[in-house]
Amino acid sequence: MSRFTVIGGTGYAGSAIVTEAAARGHQVTALSRSLPDAPIPNVTYVQGDATDEATLSSVIEGADVAVAVLAPRGPLAGPFRDVYRTIARLADTEGVRLFVVGGASSLRPSPGADRFVTDLSQVPEELRDGILTDAAVIIEDLPATPATLDWVYVSPARGFGAHAPGERLGRYRLGDDVSVAPEDGGAISAADYALGFVDLIEKGEHHREQVNLSH
Ligand SMILES: NC(=O)c1ccc[n+]([C@@H]2O[C@H](COP(=O)([O-])OP(=O)(O)OC[C@H]3O[C@@H](n4cnc5c(N)ncnc54)[C@H](OP(=O)(O)O)[C@@H]3O)[C@@H](O)[C@H]2O)c1
Repeated sequence: MSRFTVIGGTGYAGSAIVTEAAARGHQVTALSRSLPDAPIPNVTYVQGDATDEATLSSVIEGADVAVAVLAPRGPLAGPFRDVYRTIARLADTEGVRLFVVGGASSLRPSPGADRFVTDLSQVPEELRDGILTDAAVIIEDLPATPATLDWVYVSPARGFGAHAPGERLGRYRLGDDVSVAPEDGGAISAADYALGFVDLIEKGEHHREQVNLSH
């Protein structure tokens, strides 16, 4: 049993990770600004704002693993990278392993190729800033952290999201920074992404690297 703190644990990806971790008997704390309508049994919900360092500190201190699963939208669009840098600094200070739910656009189509994010011409303009912000966390910010911080950036393969919740198949495919999304489309469900995500945490085989999960 490990102590998980899930920052953004009531959202689409976060609640699936909270559900999976709690079902495996981990001790889970979820931070969000509002409390969920349907709380998951045995989960401790903390109401607070991740832009407040004292709030972050209170939920990261004493944890074994911190999961960062905020989205660079709305009021967080501007401070997102600063919030993630603060989470990383606090996790490093406390010796807490950090797992970041990332975006698909920072993946590569093939080994050594440019990341998808280098060409957003096919992406609607209103989505581009969020994608770039998300990608900067893995391209710039996490690699710049002290070597003592144990982080893993877990991208879902393309297609993942609340618009395509899918069903739990009980399986997933794991890749490095090269997308393992099948050519025929589709998307990994939140439940299967969470299955792979908690497996990554439990196995502890990846350190300071990007991986991706697909169906
Ligand atoms: N295809 C893709 O690449 C893809 C698709 C989807 C998601 N993702 C990744 O997954 C991550 C999360 O996305 P999501 O769709 O799960 O987001 P979401 O459903 O909007 O969830 C965001 C979570 O963060 C909480 N939150 C927002 N602002 C907060 C604040 N200031 N302080 C504390 N908690 C706050 C929300 O609860 P409150 O609003 O109550 O605070 C909620 O729990 C994103 O970083 C994104 O990169 C990737």
